[in-house]
Amino acid sequence: MTDSSPSLLIDPTRLQTLLEEAVGRFAVAALASCDSTNSLLCQRAKQGAVSGSVIVTDHQALGRGSRGRHWVATPEGSLTFSLLWRFGEDLARMAGLSLAVGVAVVRALEACGVSGVSLKWPNDILHDNAKLGGILIELQSDSEGAQAIIGIGLNLRLPEKLELTDFALKPTALDQLVSPLPERHQLLAKLLIELADVLDRFSLDGFSALREAWQKHNAWQDKPIHLLRDGRVEMEGLCRGADADGALLVETVAGIERCLSGDLSLRAS
Ligand code: BTN
Repeated sequence: MTDSSPSLLIDPTRLQTLLEEAVGRFAVAALASCDSTNSLLCQRAKQGAVSGSVIVTDHQALGRGSRGRHWVATPEGSLTFSLLWRFGEDLARMAGLSLAVGVAVVRALEACGVSGVSLKWPNDILHDNAKLGGILIELQSDSEGAQAIIGIGLNLRLPEKLELTDFALKPTALDQLVSPLPERHQLLAKLLIELADVLDRFSLDGFSALREAWQKHNAWQDKPIHLLRDGRVEMEGLCRGADADGALLVETVAGIERCLSGDLSLRAS
């Protein structure tokens, strides 16, 4: 961003006015830049940050994606934020959280007029099989229970120059799907409203309360898939959704197999 370009930074006061029934549930900090909103919020959680703390930023110098990948974020190009949520539970109950968060993202995008968004197990947000965004959840715990740092990156506009070989999935962005592009405060507010709702449900009943909704948006529900480990096919069959723990269910020749491992990459067959 040049000195003359307008600031794209979120104004937390204005955001609060858009939070409807979720007003007062979020403490939002907007930063012009940081290394990674997830890393910063992990630190702040350890220092006692409250549940509902949000860090949203324009620039991430060291943004992190799944599997140790780098996550590129620019002010015009993306909405980049992390949310801290504290659960009075142990970490064992947290499986399925990234799927539940995916449901909230789809609902928020629908509320902004974006239809046809789907989810790829466990943490990709897709449109027409192209990647619109991603979710990175990091869990930690203390004497009071589990804490989730929920990082979300959404592509608003694609950069002019794209190194397509860097992507397992081709990328897409919201400006390709809806016009005009949703205003950033409106978009973030809808995301936080839906996240509050989904996280409340998840706290009460775990992923089972959101399983049907996830399956409705599962990009490969009842379609042939294979799962790769280090580039080698480890499992293949029909995708039968997810179980109440968030494990992917694959109908193979040997019957239904459960897959919980984040080391596996899912591909359409
Ligand atoms: C993926 O690889 O698909 C997950 C990407 C998650 C990126 C978000 S951007 C906000 C938050 N901070 C990070 O460093 N990463 C997550």
